[in-house]
Amino acid sequence: MLRRGDTVTGFVDSCPHAGWPLAPMDDRYLTRSGQHILCAGHGALFDLAGKCVAGPCLGDHLTAWPVVLEGDEVFTA
Ligand code: FES
Repeated sequence: MLRRGDTVTGFVDSCPHAGWPLAPMDDRYLTRSGQHILCAGHGALFDLAGKCVAGPCLGDHLTAWPVVLEGDEVFTA
């Protein structure tokens, strides 16, 4: 789940390349710049909309996970 202000976006934690979890540790999904989601498996980079912009699954997308923000909490939609 990514949160930017009042906007939340959820993705299934599975890389379209080989199905591995994206992060080696919980909640460590973004690059240091915060501009991309990184798959630690083979280094794929995804934009914040979930499209792979570099790596072995170029052009593929993360699977969306519908979420909603209610107050300060995020719930599955
Ligand atoms: S499993 Fe994500 S880049 Fe290979």
